[in-house]
Formats: sequence, C-alpha cells, structure tokens
Amino acid sequence: MLVVKEITELQAIIDQEKKEGKTIGFVPTMGALHNGHISLVETATQQSNYVIVSIFVNPTQFNDKKDLINYPRTLERDLKLLDKTSCNLVFSPDTDTMYPEEDKRQFNFGQLEKVMEGQFRPGHFNGVAQVVSKFFEIVKPDKAFFGFKDFQQLVIIKALVKQLNLPIEIVPCPIVRENDGLAMSSRNQRLTEEQRHNASHIYKTLCEARNKAHTMSVKELKQWVAETINQNEFLETEYFEISDDEQLNPIKDWNSPLNKVGCIAVQCGEVRLIDNIVFE
Ligand code: PAJ
Repeated sequence: MLVVKEITELQAIIDQEKKEGKTIGFVPTMGALHNGHISLVETATQQSNYVIVSIFVNPTQFNDKKDLINYPRTLERDLKLLDKTSCNLVFSPDTDTMYPEEDKRQFNFGQLEKVMEGQFRPGHFNGVAQVVSKFFEIVKPDKAFFGFKDFQQLVIIKALVKQLNLPIEIVPCPIVRENDGLAMSSRNQRLTEEQRHNASHIYKTLCEARNKAHTMSVKELKQWVAETINQNEFLETEYFEISDDEQLNPIKDWNSPLNKVGCIAVQCGEVRLIDNIVFE
C-alpha cells in the first residue's frame, strides 16, 4: 500500500494505473478510521481495480472550531488498519496542499443544504463540497463511495456531481453499527463510558419509531422520538426530521409515495451524533 502526500506524485501513479486499464475507486475520509470506513473500502475493492483512500481533516467544513481542534487524528493507526485491507493507495495531503489559497467558492444546493444539518451547521456542506470537488478533480475516480450514515451529505454529493457534470458514479454504502446499535463514528471515541452506553438509546428509539409508524401521525411520531430521547439525561435531540430521500422535503403523511428517511442529530455531552433510519 502506497502512502502519498503530494498531488503530482499521486497523479503520476493514477495515470499509470489508468493506462493499464484499471478503474479507480475512491473513498474520501477524515481518518480516525473504524469499521464503517473499512466497509466502504471493501465495497470499493469489489467494484473497482484500484482503490484510493484519502485521509484529510478538512478545516473548511467545521463550523465549530472546537470540533476541528478536538477531531481525532490517528494516522499511524489508520495506515495499519488500511494495510490489512485491499486499499492500494492512501492520499494524506497537508492543508496547504489542498488549499494553496483560500477557497472562496460558494456552492448552491438550494433546499438540500437548508434543512437538518444545513440548518444547524451553517457552511458545513459548502466546505464538504469544496474539498470533495477538489478531490474529484485531483483523483478523477470512476466511482466514489459514501456512507448512508451521513445521508444528507450523500444526497448533496450526488447533486454536486450532477452540477459539475462529473463522470463519477456515487455509490451509497450501508451504515455499520456497534453491537448495541450505535452507528460507528470517529466522534464516538470522545464519549465517556457512561455517555457511550446511553448513546445506544438513539438507534433503539429510531427502531421503535419505525415500528410505531402508521399507528400515529408523522407529526406525533416526530414529537415522540424527540421526547423519548430527551428523557435520557445524557441525550438532547437537536432535530428529528422525516424527509423524502431526493429533495429532502419533510414528509407530512405516511401515504406519501416518496421514500422516507428519518434523520436525527443528538447532543451527547460535548459530542454531536447523527443517525438515520429508512421508513417503509
Ligand atoms: P468521515 O466522517 O471520515 O466519513 C468518511 C465516509 O465514511 C463518509 O462517506 C461517511 O458517510 C462514511 N461513514 C462514516 N461512518 C460510517 C458508518 N458507521 N457506516 C458506514 N459509513 C460510514 O464524511 C466525511 O468524513 C467528510 O465529510 C468527507 C466526505 C471525507 C469530506 O471531508
């Protein structure tokens, strides 16, 4: 497995692989890797001939500077983990390499960036679009792999590829969970033992909500989820929304023919956790 920090070196390698007829699979990450990330690498391996993982903690997507400072950075450990997979190359650039000058681009995703994460993390998706569009330009992958865990990000990346006419297939990958149901996340490392234990309540409540759907109105169910989670003294719901999976408009009625995804953000101590569940 190669580890590369410079763009010119990376592109020389990619050119060579492409000349040999290989398809490029790309998995962008911010490191602090866990089995959720690894599952993306495994899917990429099944669907492409040459797998590139990027590890870069992107400063422009952090609306909360404290979150950026506290974000776990575990490069040595990450490289050991990836070495056990079929990843061919890790691209871990410095900030100056990715941003030789300030990125002033303002993307416009309309409704997609106004709701949920967009409402509570102003500027976040613009930063994600900045860095991912740069990566796509540099790597020019055939396919890029994104987790359903960050559902709104996935929808926005699909919109980005469409807006920029990029010939890249975006492949959604299922959420990987801990044994107790908590969605794996690099931020889970920052939970105390007690918080970590109580955080499993989020997914349990989402599953119960899925069972309860149709027995009450959408509005009542949304309220029930927030109240149930907030009854746990370690958890505070920031939002719970049930949206369609394309335009991210709130679903008002279970009879809607659109695909419905229940998305939640919960504050657990200092750590902000997100998760989602698909409703029938
Ligand atoms: P990061 O949070 O490191 O996540 C990298 C990828 O792993 C994302 O596509 C995310 O959805 C996926 N992922 C995270 N946890 C997962 C889980 N439990 N199951 C399945 N997939 C999971 O998302 C980012 O980084 C950044 O915003 C990035 C796209 C790299 C741009 O900086």
